[in-house]
Amino acid sequence: MKNKKILITGSAGFIGFHLCKDLIKNKNLSLVGIDNVNNYYDVKLKKERINILKKLSTNFKFIKIDLNSRKIKELFFKEKFDVVIHLAAQAGVRYSISNPEAYVINNLNGFFNIINQSSRNKIKHFIFASTSSVYGDNSKFPLKEHYDTDKPLTFYAATKKSNEVIAYSYSNIHKLPATGLRFFTVYGPYGRPDMALYKFANSIMKNKFLNMFNYGNHKRDFTYIDDVTNAIKKIISKPSKDKIPYQLFNIASSSPENLKKFLRYIENRLGKKAKIKYLPLQKGDIYQTFGDTSKLKKKINFKIRTSLEEGITKYVNWFLKKNKF
Ligand SMILES: NC(=O)c1ccc[n+]([C@@H]2O[C@H](COP(=O)([O-])OP(=O)(O)OC[C@H]3O[C@@H](n4cnc5c(N)ncnc54)[C@H](O)[C@@H]3O)[C@@H](O)[C@H]2O)c1
Repeated sequence: MKNKKILITGSAGFIGFHLCKDLIKNKNLSLVGIDNVNNYYDVKLKKERINILKKLSTNFKFIKIDLNSRKIKELFFKEKFDVVIHLAAQAGVRYSISNPEAYVINNLNGFFNIINQSSRNKIKHFIFASTSSVYGDNSKFPLKEHYDTDKPLTFYAATKKSNEVIAYSYSNIHKLPATGLRFFTVYGPYGRPDMALYKFANSIMKNKFLNMFNYGNHKRDFTYIDDVTNAIKKIISKPSKDKIPYQLFNIASSSPENLKKFLRYIENRLGKKAKIKYLPLQKGDIYQTFGDTSKLKKKINFKIRTSLEEGITKYVNWFLKKNKF
């Protein structure tokens, strides 16, 4: 990867922050990170991430801007990006049940603005975040990229599926090289406070009851953040060369674990037992995620380096350092 100028949207977010932190090490790259730093979760955590990135390097520039701002057009025109990695979105499956508008604004309108500018400015590779949620209730495992994704169980998943379909059409009509990445439950230090790992660890340390939906029988294909950023890094220089230059990959650990065992690992690392409130399945929840990554292996020789136990240890070390209990 030589002398590329890369735009990373959502760089104050969990995955965007880690990706920038990793890409910054390559001094041949010039990086621009954008984010509107919204208050969906703790703004302090987002600001902390940005400050770390700013201190790390001079080849990284952060701009606070919304995906839907008119200034996005000027930004593309001025900066002349080679690659766009679009991670900014309204994340969260459950929040989309009560707040669908946020998903229309950020995941549909915002996505359109970024892909449209990418296409107009002849970006050489447009990479964007999708999700394992697009597989809905598929029960044939491991999940492969070509399986049916026409029945999303939540509006969040519906907006991400729309992104995939829109990107395909841009690849077809405008020959925009586009790559969709379906992430499977990404976790790690500086992770999102709305996700299970933070909620569980926080409840344990504060002696509060934690909610265990579906009586803990869910299975999730937890994927450690470094494995995800490694994959994204390798994908950057590998756009599709097909006539319609569109491609789609699962990024998963292919090693699903049930929530009870996940919690046991957290308890072990924290050295403390959880108080658990067992609850039935929630509306829109999927029983299991388990992604097949043979397509990604073939493309970039993808390998998982961090086991769930190791990853949780790294997370808990960060969590305890950050929070005073
Ligand atoms: N973390 C996971 O397990 C996971 C799983 C599947 C898919 N994804 C997808 O990966 C991407 C990154 O996820 P994350 O976990 O880092 O989430 P995150 O919420 O930590 O990061 C998203 C960032 O986008 C920013 N953003 C949202 N709307 C914006 C707008 N209109 N303009 C500018 N910035 C805006 C937010 O402020 C946030 O900092 C998202 O697209 C998400 O849907 C994440």
